This record gives sequence, structure tokens and C-alpha cells, in this order.
Amino acid sequence: MTKIPSMWRLPTSFFAVSLFTQLVSAQNQTIEYVGKITINTSQKFQTVDGFGVSQAFQRANQIQHLSTKNQTRVLDLLFSDTTGAGLTILRNGIGSSNSSIRDYMNTILPVSPGSPSSTPNYTWDGVDSGQVWLSQQVMNNYGVKIFYADAWSAPAFMKDNNEDTDGGLLCGVTGSSNSSCAGQDWRQAYADYLVQYLRYYEEAGVHITHVSWLNEPELTEPYASMVSDGKQAADFLKVFTPTLRKSGLDVKILCCDAAGWEYQRQMVTDIQKAGAEPLMDIIASHGYSSPPTTPFASKLPTWQTEWADLSDPWTTAWDAEESDGEGFTWAVKIQDSFVQSNCTAFIYWIGAEISPGNSMLIRLGNDTVEPSKKLWAMAQFSRFVKPGAVRVGSTSTNSTLHVSAFQNADGGLAIQVINTHENDTDVQLVVQGATSLGSGRSWLTDNTNDLTDQGGFQVSGGASNQTVQGRSMTSFIFEELI
Ligand SMILES: *[C@@H]1O[C@H](CO)[C@@H](O)[C@H](O)[C@H]1NC(C)=O
Ligand SMILES: *[C@@H]1O[C@H](CO)[C@@H](O)[C@H](O)[C@H]1NC(C)=O
Ligand SMILES: *[C@@H]1O[C@H](CO)[C@@H](O)[C@H](O)[C@H]1NC(C)=O
Ligand SMILES: *[C@@H]1O[C@H](CO)[C@@H](O)[C@H](O)[C@H]1NC(C)=O
Ligand SMILES: *[C@@H]1O[C@H](CO)[C@@H](O)[C@H](O)[C@H]1NC(C)=O
Ligand SMILES: *[C@@H]1O[C@H](CO)[C@@H](O)[C@H](O)[C@H]1NC(C)=O
Ligand SMILES: *[C@@H]1O[C@H](CO)[C@@H](O)[C@H](O)[C@H]1NC(C)=O
Ligand SMILES: *[C@@H]1O[C@H](CO)[C@@H](O)[C@H](O)[C@H]1NC(C)=O
Ligand SMILES: *[C@@H]1O[C@H](CO)[C@@H](O)[C@H](O)[C@H]1NC(C)=O
Ligand SMILES: *[C@@H]1O[C@H](CO)[C@@H](O)[C@H](O)[C@H]1NC(C)=O
Ligand SMILES: *[C@@H]1O[C@H](CO)[C@@H](O)[C@H](O)[C@H]1NC(C)=O
Repeated sequence: MTKIPSMWRLPTSFFAVSLFTQLVSAQNQTIEYVGKITINTSQKFQTVDGFGVSQAFQRANQIQHLSTKNQTRVLDLLFSDTTGAGLTILRNGIGSSNSSIRDYMNTILPVSPGSPSSTPNYTWDGVDSGQVWLSQQVMNNYGVKIFYADAWSAPAFMKDNNEDTDGGLLCGVTGSSNSSCAGQDWRQAYADYLVQYLRYYEEAGVHITHVSWLNEPELTEPYASMVSDGKQAADFLKVFTPTLRKSGLDVKILCCDAAGWEYQRQMVTDIQKAGAEPLMDIIASHGYSSPPTTPFASKLPTWQTEWADLSDPWTTAWDAEESDGEGFTWAVKIQDSFVQSNCTAFIYWIGAEISPGNSMLIRLGNDTVEPSKKLWAMAQFSRFVKPGAVRVGSTSTNSTLHVSAFQNADGGLAIQVINTHENDTDVQLVVQGATSLGSGRSWLTDNTNDLTDQGGFQVSGGASNQTVQGRSMTSFIFEELI
């Protein structure tokens, strides 16, 4: 490890001595490099909506079935601002299945009313695959206010394949099979159905703030799925948006949760061509088939609403460099989503579940709880960057140091530094225009640290010298910026 002894974290009383030692020893060492990271809080980019996970497909039940002690542990790890990631968004699944077998999410309209204009017989079990309980928990105990409800499909009888699985189109959109749909247009009935789902949550005391009716619409899957292109999404927006606005519910509309950035980009273009972009509030895409690399050509905010490592076995590693499912990889992906792709929210796929795979942040067993470094990668951002934070200008003189910075609504500054180099690097943090950074504090995640509090440091003037560990992520937090 190439590293000069650091004096900056020593108590003030040792300052003179340390300074002397530093100068002497520095004479005998080759200081290979001192990086410089510059933050410009006058350069303002997107406003952050938050960070989150999903417990759809009955994964909420898996948390609920733990012992009380471990239930609290999982929820703390995901949502606590003092011992966990402090997540601020929960993404729920709107069910489309007529049963709860396997991990299916059941629908509020299991039986067809016969025609789109007939009165639907909605049924509400008050459970919604465990998601009502989970929503209430995170709202009441952790102050979560952002709930995104997303449907993977409409109920079978509204679609031209008469299944809620295996793709198929919503009857009434361009290209849906007239004969299979018996000439019927189910768009209004589906819009009413989604509004009814939102109302059930209102009655349960949970205000759903964001909604969508599609998930990975370019894919036909054996589980709940419904296909759509941009034109077909526009066809539904023209019915859904007025219906939602008329309902009096204050809910933002997302579209379209494509499996990858590039299909979503095409959908955005086609929605714009169809004149329907003003009918939606937020662009949503997943990172799987093509990752977030560049912003969409739109003024709308962008959410990365689902992404995970679906191919590797479970790993808790930070940086063993054996799979793409390690914490370090995810720290870089999260940062890039904000810096390169202008995202305002990052939602991982599953928060906690029982699975041999790596698609979740925390592995559950038969009353066991095992967090991964992916959780702490997320936490390095989500603990300190809160809804309403503005991303500000940040540059690094060395491309091995990846940097981002956000100024929270309360004025505090959170700087994230990912050191992709194997060696420790000394860096000078400079906040342009700041005469004082007040007191700072840093938090470290690497192979042996899980968002470890590295202690506070006093700084005068708008600069602070720090050492960033090789292959680590550090968050530098300044509570007051003068
Ligand atoms: C890291 O530091 C060691 C010790 O100074 C050095 O031998 C090595 O080449 C450095 N690694 C890189 C990639 O520069
Ligand atoms: C620095 O190097 C010189 C010459 O090699 C040596 O005499 C001196 O003791 C060294 N000083 C320290 C602090 O290591
Ligand atoms: C900081 O950003 C502002 C706004 O983009 C710009 O006008 C200013 O020149 C920048 N300051 C420096 C020192 O680069
Ligand atoms: C509505 O569905 C419920 C079961 O969820 C059933 O008990 C009831 O009879 C149905 N009502 C009508 C009018 O079909
Ligand atoms: C439930 O849904 C499946 C799949 O769409 C369908 O085959 C089955 O007939 C439905 N059952 C009932 C009772 O509606
Ligand atoms: C659509 O289907 C309905 C009912 O099956 C039929 O009456 C109508 O002629 C069809 N329209 C077209 C354009 O095929
Ligand atoms: C980034 O997103 C914001 C909305 O969140 C938008 O106003 C801005 O134009 C976007 N910038 C770029 C470069 O796409
Ligand atoms: C979980 O462990 C308990 C106690 O050892 C056992 O009774 C139960 O069957 C186990 N459940 C599962 C799903 O493995
Ligand atoms: C909770 O989880 C831990 C760690 O996975 C496990 O050791 C413990 O037995 C579980 N149950 C309780 C009640 O703590
Ligand atoms: C970047 O930092 C590394 C690690 O300290 C150093 O080895 C490298 O020379 C630096 N690169 C540049 C372009 O300054
Ligand atoms: C921080 O490091 C820079 C660059 O090496 C140096 O010029 C400056 O004096 C240092 N500041 C403090 C407070 O040590």
C-alpha cells in the first residue's frame, strides 16, 4: 500500500507533532500521487427522489414470517437511518393472478365481470401478498413516504391471450387481437381497476405516491407479464391519466419499466411521437438487458426501478472479483446511474428473500438474516442522500477515483468516493466557494468494513485532506456548509 502517514484524522493537540513527523518521513517517501476532488455546489443537476427495494411476489411474507427479533433486524438493515441503509422507497407489485399459489400475487378482480362496461366485483383481502403489512411497517417505523405500485400484467380476461402470464396485449391498444378480445376495449376497465387498487391502500392508511401498469413490456415470460411498445403505452396513457386525475388521488404515473435502457429509450421516443409524454410524470427503466449509460432525451425525471445480479450464486463479498454480484460492482453501478444517466431514484430488485441466488441484498433462511455488501454499497448512498437532495458538480483529477456529490435539502453535503485502484490514495477534497465545511465525518465500506463510522474530522477553509483506501467506497459527510 503506497501511503503517507495521515495526520488529518489525529486530534488537534497532536497536530504539531504529527506535522513534524509527516514532513520528515515524507522526505524519505515517494509520494506517488495526491488526487484532488473538487465539488462545485453552484453547479446543480437532478433532484433526488430516493433509493429503494421491492418485496413483491410474496417476499414481504418472508419477512413477516421471521421471528420478531429478526423481522426488526431485516427492516432495520433496509430502512433504518442509524443501523441500516435508510431506504426511502418501497416498490410494491399489483397482483394479476386469480390465486396465491407459489409466489403469485393475487388480483383484486379474480372473476371477469363479463364485459368492460359491467360492474366489477372487486375483492380485497387486506393483505396484498404481505405488502400492506410491510408498507405500514416502513411508513410507521421508518418514515418511508414513497410507495411505487407496479403491475406486471392486467388480469387475464382483459388481455388478448386470456392469461395474466405469457405476454399478450391489453385489449384495446393498437395491435391487440380483435377476435381474441371479442371486439372489446378493456383500457377504461383496467384504468378503473388500478385506481381501485390505489383506493384500497388509502383505506389501509398508506398513500401510494407512484404507479405504473407495465413491467418489462418487451418480454414474454411464464410469470405475470404483458407486452407493450411505446405506441401501445401511449394508447393506455390516454385513458389512464385522465381517469387517475379525476379520481382526486395525488399519484404520479411512471412508464414503462422496460428490462433495459435501450428498449425504454425507444418507448420514450414513440410515446413522444404519439403526443403522450405530457400524460406521464417519470420515466422508469430497469438496468438488466442494457444498463443506464446516458440520459433519455426528455425533461422528465428518470428512475432506475429494478436491477440485480440474476445469474450468480449468493455472495456477501465486497471485492473478490469473482462475480458481477459483489458490493463494489454495485457501488459503481449506483453511482453511474446518477452521474452518467441522470437518474433521480435507484431501486434494487429484492431487499430480502429466501433464495440460493444473488438477486437480493439480504439473504433470509429459516429465521436467519445475512446481509451482503451490496446492501452496504446501497447504504453508502441511501443513508446520506435523502429525497430532495440535489446532485452537484464533482470532478476528480484521477480517473481511478469515481466521485459524486449531493447537497441535501438541509444544506448538508454528501460526497461519495469510490477508489477503483488497489492502493490507498491521498486526496485533497475541495469544496469551491465554501469558506468552512464545519465538521466532517466519513463512512467506509470495503472487504472488512460495513458502512463503518471513521469518525469526525475538523476542517477549516473549504478543503480537507483525506486518505481513501484501495478498492473501497467512502462517504464524506459535511453537516453544515458555510
Ligand atoms: C500498489 O503499491 C505497491 C507498493 O508500492 C506497488 O508495488 C504496486 O505496483 C501498486 N499497484 C499499482 C496497480 O500501481
Ligand atoms: C531518511 O533517509 C535518510 C537517508 O537515507 C536517513 O538517514 C534518515 O534517517 C531517514 N529519515 C527517516 C525519518 O526515515
Ligand atoms: C461552479 O459552477 C458554476 C455553475 O455551473 C459556474 O458558473 C462556476 O464557474 C463554477 N465554479 C468554478 C470555480 O468552476
Ligand atoms: C363477489 O365476489 C365475492 C367473493 O370475492 C362473492 O362472495 C360474491 O358473491 C360476489 N358478488 C357478486 C355479485 O358476484
Ligand atoms: C385462473 O387463471 C388461469 C390462468 O389465467 C386460468 O387458466 C384459470 O381458468 C383461472 N381460474 C379461474 C377460476 O378463473
Ligand atoms: C371485432 O370483433 C367483433 C366481435 O368479435 C366483430 O363484431 C367486429 O367485426 C370485429 N372488428 C374488426 C374490425 O375485425
Ligand atoms: C436530467 O433530469 C432532469 C429531471 O430530473 C431534467 O430536468 C434534465 O434536463 C436532465 N438532464 C439531462 C442532461 O438529461
Ligand atoms: C424452520 O425451523 C423450524 C425449527 O427448527 C422447523 O420446525 C421448521 O420446519 C423449519 N421450516 C422450514 C421452512 O424449513
Ligand atoms: C435471527 O437470525 C440470527 C442470524 O441469522 C440467528 O442466529 C438467530 O437464531 C435468529 N433468531 C433469533 C430469534 O434471533
Ligand atoms: C491515479 O492514482 C493512482 C493511485 O494513487 C496512481 O498510481 C496513478 O498514477 C494516478 N494516475 C494519474 C493519471 O494521475
Ligand atoms: C492538503 O494537501 C495539499 C496537497 O498536497 C497541500 O497543499 C495542503 O497544504 C494540505 N492541507 C492541509 C490542511 O494539510
